[in-house]
Amino acid sequence: MSRVYNPTEYVVEKSRIKSFDKYKEMHRKSLEEPEAFWSEIAKDFYWQTPPQPGKFVSYNFDITKGDIFVKWLDGAVTNVCFNLLDRNVRNGHGDKIAYYWEGNCPEDYSRVTYKKLMDLVCQFANALRDIGVSKGDRVSIYMPMILETVVCMLACARIGAIHSVVFAGFSSDSLAERMSDCKAKVLVTSDGAWRGEKLLQLKRICDEALDKAKKIHKHNVAKCVVVSHLARVTPCGKLPDDLRSLYNWNEEKDLWWHEIIESQSTICPPEWMDAEDPLFMLYTSGSTGKPKGVLHSTAGFLLYAAATFRYVFDYRDKDIYWCTADVGWITGHTYVVYAPLANAATSVMFEGTPFYPDNDRYWSLVEKYHVTQFYTAPTAIRALTKFGDEYVKKHDMKTLRVLGSVGEPINPEAWLWYHKMIGNGRCSIVDTFWQTETGGHVLTSLPGATPMKPGAAGFPFFGVQPTLLDENGKEIEGPGEGYLVFSRPWPGIMRTLFADHDRYEKVYFSKFPGYYCTGDGAKRDEDGFLWVTGRIDDMLNVSGHLMSTAEVESVLTEEPRVSEAAVVSKPHPIKGESLYCFVILNDEAKFDDDLVNSLKKRVRNRIGAFAAPDVIQYAPGLPKTRSGKIMRRILRKIALGERDIGDTSTLADPTVVDELFNNRP
Ligand code: WT7
Repeated sequence: MSRVYNPTEYVVEKSRIKSFDKYKEMHRKSLEEPEAFWSEIAKDFYWQTPPQPGKFVSYNFDITKGDIFVKWLDGAVTNVCFNLLDRNVRNGHGDKIAYYWEGNCPEDYSRVTYKKLMDLVCQFANALRDIGVSKGDRVSIYMPMILETVVCMLACARIGAIHSVVFAGFSSDSLAERMSDCKAKVLVTSDGAWRGEKLLQLKRICDEALDKAKKIHKHNVAKCVVVSHLARVTPCGKLPDDLRSLYNWNEEKDLWWHEIIESQSTICPPEWMDAEDPLFMLYTSGSTGKPKGVLHSTAGFLLYAAATFRYVFDYRDKDIYWCTADVGWITGHTYVVYAPLANAATSVMFEGTPFYPDNDRYWSLVEKYHVTQFYTAPTAIRALTKFGDEYVKKHDMKTLRVLGSVGEPINPEAWLWYHKMIGNGRCSIVDTFWQTETGGHVLTSLPGATPMKPGAAGFPFFGVQPTLLDENGKEIEGPGEGYLVFSRPWPGIMRTLFADHDRYEKVYFSKFPGYYCTGDGAKRDEDGFLWVTGRIDDMLNVSGHLMSTAEVESVLTEEPRVSEAAVVSKPHPIKGESLYCFVILNDEAKFDDDLVNSLKKRVRNRIGAFAAPDVIQYAPGLPKTRSGKIMRRILRKIALGERDIGDTSTLADPTVVDELFNNRP
């Protein structure tokens, strides 16, 4: 049994909810009277048509009873951008800092107030309208962590366009596939960006992606808007004299950001949106290999982002909040952009890496900006732990109050270090479990309110009702382990997959009728804490990035020398999980360094550098059942070098297992 950490007086003193009992009471009420709970949140926002009593939520989670749907605040009309900017400016926060922007290089930093952000967003929204973007159109965004990225997302929200951000670490193939799938009208990018000493040639990747979209997917993106970023920041490495040599410029398609906003007015009437109109989409990996375009709604997402931020980070006026996630992932969407702005918060936005110019960059920024809430991923914590405590001790971090973790289960060693070294033993740690699909936190601790256990995600957020199911779909009451599912919707849950409602119903609602299925396993302990144990489908979580074994396998088998491939996850001390790949070769092919390198390169180019395999192993055959299904359980043992592989009676050919053990690199 692991130790329980109760919130310290230091945290409780400032927290909104001051006891576990109070949390339990609020949670119960949020389920019994959802309308009372959510109207309390909704009343802070501006509604062109207010939410109607009796129409707060309607849904069907039971596929045997008809189509799956979720609706919140149906009939209400609002605009998210207006609520994030105009409303805050009108409420006297115009001069408040929305973001402290810190560049890759410590010499580069700036800040933007709510009023200024509103002006920039309006100008860019007008520019988007001028180039033909209107309500419902998709805008792809392939950007570094700069303020224009936020401006662009909010400009889309203002005019009702659906943004589709693609993480700027994805390859041109991935970007092309995602732009084509949603038929994006416009792509927004920057000429490039620095990450540490590495130059990312973003516009060049976009050139390739636009080309591939046209040639391979027959989709033409009409315009590409480019932020001139490199010329305004300190070069952190070698740069060509002529920045134009970094990319092609297509006179018909390409537009400079600064040129198209130049003459635009800072007034831009928002597009009034129905509560259930889409706000944005974001692709996430699917177990078939084809990415899923998760679609989020307007009003429900706004309420849920706002509420989770308020309670989970316990944000207070004058606090300085910092989420290190990239805007390319859902964490960046909800907790760098929408949720902090919905609460008129001041955030830090950081372009660089934790290791540049030195390994104390995060801690130096906590000190520099007096950060009170710090939100990062276990993989970053583990990477920073290994440099030792000296880097931490150099900095004064006494402003911290809440520390967040997200992306994968946090291992107790990392939790304890985070708690002791970063939190000085007195901060609350919120281990937030959620998904691209959930829109916001669904399981977490709450500062001041709930006890914590290192490695446990904790308890459901308000409005969330988690259930554990056994293989037969029977609910597990009390302590036990099973499939983590949810029996009712909260406002922030996705509404569909873009242009693929069938897949939405199939992937999330068909396994257990009546429940939204997360794809994760979880256990409930004697004290009622929930522990997420990880994916139970063929998905992998590398450094907090979810990908499917199928998508990596299909890239590996594109190599002519490879006839079959199987990918499994192997635990990794920093990344959490890493890719371990088995390849069967075609008759004449030879397994050598050249093949290994070209396979690794292929995965980088087709998916992105973060997906690069750690190990590629030659396989004379694969362990399969008599019906031909690959036994991944055995491959995982081989990857680990653990000879004790358990029951093998279902194997078609047991000799292959010995051969694989003997072939480990
Ligand atoms: C998957 C979702 C949601 C933000 C980032 C990832 C895993 C995420 C935790 C956590 C245990 C976690 C799950 C989940 N996960 N946070 N605190 N504890 N597991 O978003 O790419 O949609 O991945 O990440 O496996 O299903 P995503």
